[in-house]
Amino acid sequence: MAETLRLTIQRLILAALIAYWVRLPAQVSAAIFDGVSNGQGSSERLKQAGSDKEGASKKSYTSAKSEMVNITSLNAECARRYMDSLLADHNAARKQLCGNFTKRSNVAVFYTCFERLRLIHRALPSIFLSNGIRNFDVFISQDGISPSIFDDEVFSIPGDMPYVYIQHPVNLCTGLHMHFVKAFAFDIMGYDILLIVEEDNVLHPQALQLLARMAELSVNEPDVGVVSLLDMDMGPFLDSSRFSVGIVPVRSTTGHLWIFGLHRVKYDAIREMMNAYYDAIKGYEYRTKHLLPLRPRIEALMIKYGFPIPSPFSQDRFFLNSLATANFTKRYQTLFRFFQPIGSSGLHFKYNTSHFVKIFGQHMYNGLIDPSAAFDVTKDPRDIKAIRDSVRLRLNRLFQRYRRSFPLESLVNSTFYGIMEGRLNGQGVAHNIRGADKGSPPPPPPIATCDLRQSRGAI
Ligand SMILES: *[C@@H]1O[C@H](CO)[C@@H](O)[C@H](O)[C@H]1NC(C)=O
Ligand SMILES: *[C@@H]1O[C@H](CO)[C@@H](O)[C@H](O)[C@H]1NC(C)=O
Ligand SMILES: *[C@@H]1O[C@H](CO)[C@@H](O)[C@H](O)[C@H]1NC(C)=O
Ligand SMILES: *[C@@H]1O[C@H](CO)[C@@H](O)[C@H](O)[C@H]1NC(C)=O
Ligand SMILES: *[C@@H]1O[C@H](CO)[C@@H](O)[C@H](O)[C@H]1NC(C)=O
Repeated sequence: MAETLRLTIQRLILAALIAYWVRLPAQVSAAIFDGVSNGQGSSERLKQAGSDKEGASKKSYTSAKSEMVNITSLNAECARRYMDSLLADHNAARKQLCGNFTKRSNVAVFYTCFERLRLIHRALPSIFLSNGIRNFDVFISQDGISPSIFDDEVFSIPGDMPYVYIQHPVNLCTGLHMHFVKAFAFDIMGYDILLIVEEDNVLHPQALQLLARMAELSVNEPDVGVVSLLDMDMGPFLDSSRFSVGIVPVRSTTGHLWIFGLHRVKYDAIREMMNAYYDAIKGYEYRTKHLLPLRPRIEALMIKYGFPIPSPFSQDRFFLNSLATANFTKRYQTLFRFFQPIGSSGLHFKYNTSHFVKIFGQHMYNGLIDPSAAFDVTKDPRDIKAIRDSVRLRLNRLFQRYRRSFPLESLVNSTFYGIMEGRLNGQGVAHNIRGADKGSPPPPPPIATCDLRQSRGAI
């Protein structure tokens, strides 16, 4: 009973918020209220939009007297109005979203989340336990008109910890949500550095400091755009005493955008393209971006800006393609993994846990570093030589111990390049040498792409 009452009240508040913030035409908000009073939570209805074929929600919806709008387009339209109104008036947006919070840092940390509370409860505390976190401004951006992550009493953040919690009143979906984060940080709030942590990652205590330092280092690199934490575990083949703060410039499409950073000067160069993408997708259902009517709209932009075709239609990939068009074809990536990915099962998840762990491993770097000492290992040939020597030495040791032979030169070579290109599944290679299938050579390290992220992240 109490639970039902609470939910109903939540829905009423939600509907009021949507109607107020998004300033819907009267017949649209009437449709939302109609759904609430029929016991069809608007949040349920909006979330199910698109997949709901004959549900009661659709019936109650069509009974509302609005022939023009259906639920799918209703959510997209709500999201468009909400975003447009935020972007139109920066002062008003600051007040609406941040209250009386005052900016203290030039670095914004954004934790973006949806509704997977079990993961959020493990991941979010690691942000607040980060070294030097009080030197950054922390924002929590929750999408998806789900219950607030703070509804659950289990969850707490130290009382004196400043942060801003933004709960969006509509479902932005990743396309608009990621645009929001960038536009909010750089345009509305005027930060110099933006660090983004996705929902399902537990951070090493020094990860954010290291990432902020990498973003600073990227400024003077003409071909580096985004900076990110390595998603694999290459540790078995690297000397941590020398390279734990090492970074490598890798192709920008190598690895995931799970935990990444961007400096304002890079965003300045791609703002026009990002805004054009926003204009193209707003008001449309993002989850079907590969279909009509969104597909040709995005394709037209890709042609206009000379992106490689075909290319995924996601905001992420458009972001990386935009950076590449501005000649930022690479990203700075760490050599060690400074976080633990815990989201092995997600909304659109294609891999089971064991398969996920096999690809990505499950451990993070467990030492301590000096984040301000970060350096590009490719700038000094002695570092490259040291990495190559270390790969050879460790492969030799593994082969002598487990196979009583020496590794083929091609394996030494491909392992070394796997590291320098930031894509080596080091644990996997080591496991295969030690392991079960003695006859067959270890498989080549998988090349991760941004598409995988879709299977793991929130919508
Ligand atoms: C709802 O609107 C969208 C976008 O206008 C359209 O693609 C879709 O077919 C409509 N769905 C229904 C059930 O009318
Ligand atoms: C800022 O807002 C919070 C919560 O709304 C309030 O407790 C606090 O007193 C406000 N601080 C100032 C300086 O107005
Ligand atoms: C990218 O580099 C090319 C070749 O050096 C140059 O012609 C072009 O102007 C550069 N583009 C931008 C946006 O800086
Ligand atoms: C997990 O997925 C992999 C690859 O799809 C499959 O080979 C394996 O049997 C699955 N394991 C379980 C426990 O379902
Ligand atoms: C070493 O690997 C790289 C990248 O995989 C390849 O381009 C190169 O030809 C290889 N060199 C040798 C000597 O095998």
